[in-house]
Amino acid sequence: MNAIVLAGGLGTRLRPLSCTRPKMLFPVANIPLLDWALRKLAKNKVERAILAVNYMADAFIKRYGEEAHGIELFYSKDLDRVAERLPRSEKSLGTGGSIKKAEKLISRKEPFLVLNGDILTNINYAEFVNQHKASGAIASIALHEVNDPSRYGVVELTDKDRIARFVEKPSREEAPSNVINAGIYALSPKIFDYIPKARSVSIEHEIFPKLAEEGKLHGYIFQGYWTDIGEPSDYLKANRLLLDMEIEKEKLGENVTLRIEGEIRKPCVIGENVTVGSKTIIGPYTAIGEETSVGNRALIEDSIIFPNTTISDYAFVRGAIIGESVIVGRGAKIEDGCIVGDNATIQDGVALTRGVSVCPFKNVTQNASTAECLM
Ligand code: GTP
Repeated sequence: MNAIVLAGGLGTRLRPLSCTRPKMLFPVANIPLLDWALRKLAKNKVERAILAVNYMADAFIKRYGEEAHGIELFYSKDLDRVAERLPRSEKSLGTGGSIKKAEKLISRKEPFLVLNGDILTNINYAEFVNQHKASGAIASIALHEVNDPSRYGVVELTDKDRIARFVEKPSREEAPSNVINAGIYALSPKIFDYIPKARSVSIEHEIFPKLAEEGKLHGYIFQGYWTDIGEPSDYLKANRLLLDMEIEKEKLGENVTLRIEGEIRKPCVIGENVTVGSKTIIGPYTAIGEETSVGNRALIEDSIIFPNTTISDYAFVRGAIIGESVIVGRGAKIEDGCIVGDNATIQDGVALTRGVSVCPFKNVTQNASTAECLM
């Protein structure tokens, strides 16, 4: 089976971390998001995947090359080099346009899968595609039930699992159901006839409503886990979810040095060559990237620490995301949805809280407690 993985978005809601790497390469439980997606596709007998890339496309090619997890990889870039002088708004093709661009790489003989690359799920892809084939629809959308559908595209289903209509980000009262578009599609090659060429197209807003009107759009409700990564709180949630669902209770990399009387609270994952000082507490729900050093009497909880970072003695990190090669000073406190960009330094004793974000290479010398970006 063939799959297209949409991986070309800017990831604006996860800036400044996405200023230096595409979102799909962010580690979740210490493994890049896209690796989780490719692993699942491989388990569901996908042999060939097209990565629809755009923003920082070279980072994908460098990391994955021509094959990953047993899947043969191809790259389809939204716009070519010639277009690089265009304004940013005209530089990408959107979800539908990038699928159309990949048309020549897809077999016309059978349906194929499309997924948003920023999704983590244990859906049974093979069963989904079989249901799609049986339905005779041009497109099928995987649907997931959530408690609060107001951030998503919500669908109204007929009794035959046809999708009658979409409501984008409705208020709780207006939502026709709590069943949302999970960002995973099974498409028949006829879909290419519906997508205009060489312009930005949103498959959700332009193509699916048309197919719904024609009665050619099917829904497939699945159980199991599902989350997307849009905002920092989603990213932390996804980390917790995978630590619970996919990682054995406590996973320590090789050459991890734990000094005496430290404590690892499960679930937790710690990368290769990490050192943890004495009387330090790590976890629960924490992922620490390789080559990171944590000092004495520090506490790190419900957080993601990228590789090669230094967390000094007495530092306190809770509910935060700390980028690569960051230095967190002695007794510094970072909590409550804060994001620290790569190579930044948080000086000794500085406290950051309530969603503060710090730009790469910034040296922070003062406390901050409003949702601002320190540049
Ligand atoms: P935000 O900028 O924070 O909204 O994040 P995003 O860029 O990831 O956008 P969104 O979450 O809506 O995207 C859903 C999925 O589609 C992600 O996997 C994106 O990488 C991908 N995607 C979004 N827009 C494009 C595009 O124009 N081209 C390609 N190739 N992929 C896209």
